[in-house]
Amino acid sequence: MTVLAFETSCDETSVAVVREGCVLANVVSSQIKLHGEYGGVVPELATREHLRNLLPVAHAAQRAAGISMSGLDAVAATLGPGLPNALMIGARAAQSLAFALRRPFIGIHHHEAHLYSPWVRPDLSGMRADFGAFQPNVSLIVSGGHTMLVHVGGLLKHRVLGSTVDDAAGECFDKVGKLIGLPYPGGPELDRLASQGNPRAHTFPRPMLREAHDDFSFSGLKTSVRYFLRDHPEVLDDAQRIRDLCASVQAAIVEVLVTKTVKAAARLAVRCVTASGGVTCNSGLRRELAAACERDGFKLQLAERALCTDNAAMVGILAEQKLLAGKPATDLDAETMPGWTLDQAA
Ligand code: KG4
Ligand code: ZN
Repeated sequence: MTVLAFETSCDETSVAVVREGCVLANVVSSQIKLHGEYGGVVPELATREHLRNLLPVAHAAQRAAGISMSGLDAVAATLGPGLPNALMIGARAAQSLAFALRRPFIGIHHHEAHLYSPWVRPDLSGMRADFGAFQPNVSLIVSGGHTMLVHVGGLLKHRVLGSTVDDAAGECFDKVGKLIGLPYPGGPELDRLASQGNPRAHTFPRPMLREAHDDFSFSGLKTSVRYFLRDHPEVLDDAQRIRDLCASVQAAIVEVLVTKTVKAAARLAVRCVTASGGVTCNSGLRRELAAACERDGFKLQLAERALCTDNAAMVGILAEQKLLAGKPATDLDAETMPGWTLDQAA
């Protein structure tokens, strides 16, 4: 089965071709530079940029995969959640193509797609989903827009355990980055600086670390960094003190994410932990999650860095699994769902 997939839920325009779990092409055009000038994603600009880029990106994916449109068996797109108009660009393109080709359209929940991206591994031919190795797991999805823990009891079976009640972890990285004066998005640069800093230089709050539920909160941590810098503005004049600050903030975020993830996995008696989303690129998170899983005996599946951030490959992989499982196609005129929750997605 060959699936063409579209992802335009936020600031990445992506088109992928997936065949039998194999990623034949995954082209991603990121708008980070465009939004960087404004310090965050500007929805209207994102929409226009998706419109401008979608066809060139689709052509590039088609060329890279070496397929013709008539060779497609299905077309998929993210239907939600995400920026309303941005979602519409990819979804309407996919629905129109499915209509013209008389092929099924599969509407995908963005976070459900993230749940399966850690199972896509590099192999000799490129990237391939290895669902033969699948195990029930607790999955951490952590990005600029979302932070959540999900129990994935089986393929296509999931239940949200908890999510952030305010800011996402990536938002916290980015807002702290802004306070320090780093370019948008601050996460990757903060990660780089943190690697040369002392994580014990300052103690920032670990919100909701010890609470029994699986929710997160990161806005208080960001505020405490703001107050810290108000009281110690001289820190920003010293390169090493900036690195120590970055390392201390990262340590707080990572400790909360790692501790809550392995605690949920132990409680649910799964043997496997997975993680995806842009913040999963963070080297501290990758290292600490690996150490905690090793210590507690969990198998860890981290999404490949290239598939941590938003991409259409994960949309195509999930769409193919749904078709193989006999799930019905989505209506060609199905509306996008900017506020779609993961528990509503079957
Ligand atoms: O998944 P993603 O591309 O988009 C959504 O937000 O949905 O994630 C982007 C987020 C940004 O907040 C960015 O700062 C963060 O992921 N990020 C990182 C790192 N790389 C990306 N945060 C911390 N360390 C990194 N290395
Ligand atoms: Zn995402």
